[in-house]
Amino acid sequence: MEVAPGPEVLGQRVAALVVEALRPAAAGGPAKPLGLATGRTMEPVYGALVEQLQALPSVERQGLLAGWSSFNLDEYVGLGPEDLESFAASMERCLGAPLGLAPGQLRLPDGLAPHPEREARHYGQAIAAAGGLGLQLLGLGNNGHVGFNEPPCPPEAPTRCLELDPATRRQNAGLFAAGLAAVPRRAITVGLAEILAAETVVLVVSGESKAEILRRSLEEPPQPQLPASWLQRHPRLKVMVDGAAASRLGCVRI
Ligand code: GLP
Repeated sequence: MEVAPGPEVLGQRVAALVVEALRPAAAGGPAKPLGLATGRTMEPVYGALVEQLQALPSVERQGLLAGWSSFNLDEYVGLGPEDLESFAASMERCLGAPLGLAPGQLRLPDGLAPHPEREARHYGQAIAAAGGLGLQLLGLGNNGHVGFNEPPCPPEAPTRCLELDPATRRQNAGLFAAGLAAVPRRAITVGLAEILAAETVVLVVSGESKAEILRRSLEEPPQPQLPASWLQRHPRLKVMVDGAAASRLGCVRI
């Protein structure tokens, strides 16, 4: 567990981990694809990531960017890259455009696919074909979801299309210009199965409003009603939080 004073420093520390994960594996093989998240928590992370990569000597930066391969966690069904509120548009704004990444490098489920269930299956197959995920970044939903794995969710849930929890639609309504009515009812998400199979999982949480759900996710026994609680079983889970999010954790002195 690492506690940063605030979201900006937290973002810088998480970004530094991503830069390291972009370097080819010590064993000589290419690093496994990154698993990326969207949401407010990730904005300072991606801002810092762009800054850190741009500060590198250009040959080194180009080498790292040439090897970039990532799979985002989720996308709303019915939204595509042209929709401002889609995760595809958000990733393009935060990383794709500033870093000059090709669409094939920064992959997301296609929210406009005519058969979302089939798209989810193909997306899961693409992750498997890439050898699984390396470093997986995760935010935390107010109801304990990770990606869009809504409660109740068993640890073996695969990549799939599902109905969003009303609490999640309310949580994300502020990100839609037209409010709650515009928030799609379904989404495609990478499953807990693929998340738990990632080499390293980094759970990033900031702000007082997440303190209680973070405490429950880390301190209550793993259970379907708290999807993030299954992360306790991951052998390489790194919890990176700010002081406000950590304020209810019994194990942390601030
Ligand atoms: C969203 C996304 C997650 C995100 C989480 C937290 O609904 N599906 O991938 O990590 O909820 O969002 P935020 O960081 O905006 O609080």
